[in-house]
Amino acid sequence: MRSTILRELCAHRDEFVSGKQLAEKLGISRVAVWKHIEALKEEGYDILGISGRGYRIAGAYNVIIPEDIIESLSTSIIGRQLQVYRDVESTNRTARDLIREGKAGEGTVVVARRQSGGRGRRGRSWVSPPGGLWFSLINQPGLALQETALFSLVFAVGICRAIDKFLPGKAEIKWPNDIFLNGKKICGILLELSGELEQADYLISGIGINVNLQRSAFENEVRYTSTSLLEESGQYHELAAVLTAALTSLEHYYLLFMQEGFSPILDEFKSRCFHLGKNIRIAANNRILEGKSIDIDENGSLLLDTGFGIERLTTGDVALI
Ligand code: BTN
Repeated sequence: MRSTILRELCAHRDEFVSGKQLAEKLGISRVAVWKHIEALKEEGYDILGISGRGYRIAGAYNVIIPEDIIESLSTSIIGRQLQVYRDVESTNRTARDLIREGKAGEGTVVVARRQSGGRGRRGRSWVSPPGGLWFSLINQPGLALQETALFSLVFAVGICRAIDKFLPGKAEIKWPNDIFLNGKKICGILLELSGELEQADYLISGIGINVNLQRSAFENEVRYTSTSLLEESGQYHELAAVLTAALTSLEHYYLLFMQEGFSPILDEFKSRCFHLGKNIRIAANNRILEGKSIDIDENGSLLLDTGFGIERLTTGDVALI
């Protein structure tokens, strides 16, 4: 019932929808409509009601209706189970809790409209107000830990392809998995792995895409280095459409990796990696190294020519010099 009301309000986002119209559509009384609207407001939807005119929703672009996503997806694994929350600390944390409670498994996706304690790589926080796409994907590929860690690069390529649908040919990668548009970060991926060396139990890929965020949403240190799809394309995008594109593309690359390994994906990774062949500074394992980033190998390591030899790095924070 509430999904139908949301759908109706989103379909008429620039106008008021009368209580009568909604009541007729749903086959319920106007008082019942009003009660559902109040409940939706409680859930955090920004709905304006004016007597004599009806109801209008603000932020329609950011509404995600799980049933609609599931219906629009043609994936076989990813997103078949989809949990959408209003407010969580971190979708990665919720995903882990759901796994422990036996309520989530291969392909489950956890989405939140807002995160109060969004986490980034290397212990950093991740600003997650409404308007961004904050989600975690659970996989249980049954591979060794080292191989499973490659999904960090595989999924970066997957997200670039999804972003291409909205801003073609612009998404680039900063190793290992930051996604950039016009020199600024638009998406980050935080991988959490659990299990034994020989076999990972599960993999949680936390993905944050700045979709409808205005520049003012970014806090101090990331204000000049982050961007959003809105800022780069000059228009709002439906979060639901971006989520559908992301899940579709992630499944494509997930299956490709499972069937053919990393090599067919590595070439695309390299072609999108904007710092290959350039001089970089990299902070890794309490060291800062400088040199030319010359290649990415089949294990996903970055090869850095320091002038004294070639360093093979498995993790780190890259900056162009
Ligand atoms: C990075 O530092 O670049 C990684 C950022 C990852 C952010 C996403 S948002 C959804 C998921 N939940 C989190 O707490 N973090 C990831």
